[in-house]
Amino acid sequence: MNFPPEAPLLEVKNLRVSFPSAAGVVGAVQNISFALARGRTLALVGESGSGKTVTAHALLRIVPAPGVIEAGRMVFRSRRVGEIDLAHLDEKSGLLFQVRGGLISLIFQEPMTALSPVHSIGSQIDEAILLHQEVSPAAARRQTLEMLNRVGIAEAARRYSQFPHELSGGLRQRVVIAMALVCRPELLIADEPTTALDMTLQAQILGLIKNLQREIGCAVLLITHDLGVVAQMADDVAVMHRGEIVERGGVREVLKRPRHAQTRALLEALPSRRGILV
Ligand SMILES: Nc1ncnc2c1ncn2[C@@H]1O[C@H](COP(=O)(O)OP(=O)(O)O)[C@@H](O)[C@H]1O
Ligand SMILES: [Mg+2]
Repeated sequence: MNFPPEAPLLEVKNLRVSFPSAAGVVGAVQNISFALARGRTLALVGESGSGKTVTAHALLRIVPAPGVIEAGRMVFRSRRVGEIDLAHLDEKSGLLFQVRGGLISLIFQEPMTALSPVHSIGSQIDEAILLHQEVSPAAARRQTLEMLNRVGIAEAARRYSQFPHELSGGLRQRVVIAMALVCRPELLIADEPTTALDMTLQAQILGLIKNLQREIGCAVLLITHDLGVVAQMADDVAVMHRGEIVERGGVREVLKRPRHAQTRALLEALPSRRGILV
């Protein structure tokens, strides 16, 4: 491997992403830096519009036009392909293709964004496997059924042939998690993975992500605006505000002694749960 074993899995340095428009340039992400160690969970929190999703999309190089990565490095140290800079991978390189869904997976906030309405859920997970692994369709199907079981979907063989609209929101999100993790990525990015779900389902899905993370050994970049979720899931936290990271640290210390007004505002958004956080 071309890096020391203790080096962080991901190091984002001075990342800047902008959206030029007729009205001027919107600096969606302004010079942010953060690191994430192998197997750990970093929560990126902040109010709506603070730049969380743009950061996630920059990592996978899927920022929609006219958005551009203007500056910075995103060093990813993969056990499989070595050290790469995601910011400078060629758009058409096979490596970028391998990164997306193979080395780094993304769970979108809204499960329907990730799922095709016209294909069975089983065939969609098969396809993710076949894109990234050299296995037969039959072997892919076996992996899919096993993964559906692992994410807590009963009667996997029957569910395999169902379409997304035949499943509840909670089951759909389990399918998305199965698809994201079936190729055992080194990094999982979960962008508000439970915001669309009610509180009971939210706790179940977060627990599931945590268990699978442990099993697979992947790191998680968890995006949320909910500090309750941060307390349950993350080791470290970075608070974003208007495209910048304004506070960061271990979860306990940041939640116990928030220094930035933005962090305090996010804490105050959960008055009834504040007591269980710290
Ligand atoms: N497609 C887009 N076109 C123009 N500006 C965008 C686009 N997507 C995001 N932005 C800008 O980037 C900022 C951050 O967006 P985003 O990362 O989606 O916020 P959030 O923290 O809620 O995930 C927005 O406030 C907006 O100014
Ligand atoms: Mg977002």
